[in-house]
Amino acid sequence: MTEANQAPSDGAPQPKRGLLDIAPYVGGKSAIAGVAKPIKLSSNENALGAGEKAREAFAAAASSIHLYPDGRADRLRAVVAEAHGLEPERLIFGNGSDEVFALLNQTYLEAGDNIVTSQYAFVAYQISARACQAEVKLAAEPELRADVDAMLALVDERTKLVYLSNPANPTGSYATGEEIRRLHAGLPPHVILVIDEAYAEFVTEPDWESAFGLARTAPNIVVTRTFSKLHGLGGLRVGYGYAPLAVEQAIDRIRLPFNVSLPGIEAAIAAQGDEAHQRASRDLVAEWRPRLTQAIKGFGFEVFPASGNFILIRFPDAKRPASAAQDYLQAKGIIVRGVGSYGLPDCLRVTIGTEDQNRAFLDALSEFAAG
Ligand SMILES: Cc1ncc(COP(=O)(O)O)c(C=O)c1O
Repeated sequence: MTEANQAPSDGAPQPKRGLLDIAPYVGGKSAIAGVAKPIKLSSNENALGAGEKAREAFAAAASSIHLYPDGRADRLRAVVAEAHGLEPERLIFGNGSDEVFALLNQTYLEAGDNIVTSQYAFVAYQISARACQAEVKLAAEPELRADVDAMLALVDERTKLVYLSNPANPTGSYATGEEIRRLHAGLPPHVILVIDEAYAEFVTEPDWESAFGLARTAPNIVVTRTFSKLHGLGGLRVGYGYAPLAVEQAIDRIRLPFNVSLPGIEAAIAAQGDEAHQRASRDLVAEWRPRLTQAIKGFGFEVFPASGNFILIRFPDAKRPASAAQDYLQAKGIIVRGVGSYGLPDCLRVTIGTEDQNRAFLDALSEFAAG
């Protein structure tokens, strides 16, 4: 128990037990003092921005923002279901996929329950689980990729949810279709397996599979996706989960009535239909991911295999540490993400940018490498 959480001596209101032990989420930095337009490669956003169609739909929504949105997002529901061949009634929309994780946790976790995820897992799952006074169990990732057997070994009768990002942030690794099936097969039926596919559209490896297919017939799999990455709508906060109907119906009882905004719904509908922008976004990543990887390795740094729209770089030389590289890049107006809070203090995570941004980043990093 922290000091802050001990019984109040002065009768002041106190958050519930354990809450003040949770470290607040820290997002990627977005500003550098004195730099008008920094190159922001710190939040895995879409370097191309939102597509023209989504921007137009967002602007057109201005005339309707005095109206409450459709609480069930029925038109967006139909468009997403059609795009992925899913049953519309099994979709849960959220204020970003972050909200879908929070809703799952609120719906299924009681104090003393636990979630299982892996060592470097995205922290959003963990924060909202701990807010439910649940324990977070982390399976070791010695190779910086989820280890299915280590995760299964942590599951017990109090485990309610198992979270796996596929691809994973910040490591950039992915689990194969075979690994996901093995993880699911090893879980007791009372445990929900949540597969977070926020970066799914950027994967090019042939042994990766979306878990939509497996989820179709399983009573305990939820697959989440987002409009924040491929579609470039991070600022609008639209994400969704594909769940068994019973899970969707349970969550729908506590979901805030209008949790996805009207402009968000309109822009997401347009974005889902904008195949040209989706293709351009995927192509940019597919072109620059190997180019950046090769160039950075050439500077003497380690780059982990990447399957999302970002790469993870390790700076093995203590004389030239990640923190110094981050400072050097920042002095050049480039913001990247330190991942010390994930337990990776010798690494930096860098979002794949536009061609100009990537070149500026490589120039600065090569200067840093040259000392
Ligand atoms: C692995 C992973 N899942 C989910 C999200 C959250 O996405 P959203 O913007 O839909 O809340 C992120 C955002 O960075 C992420 O990295």
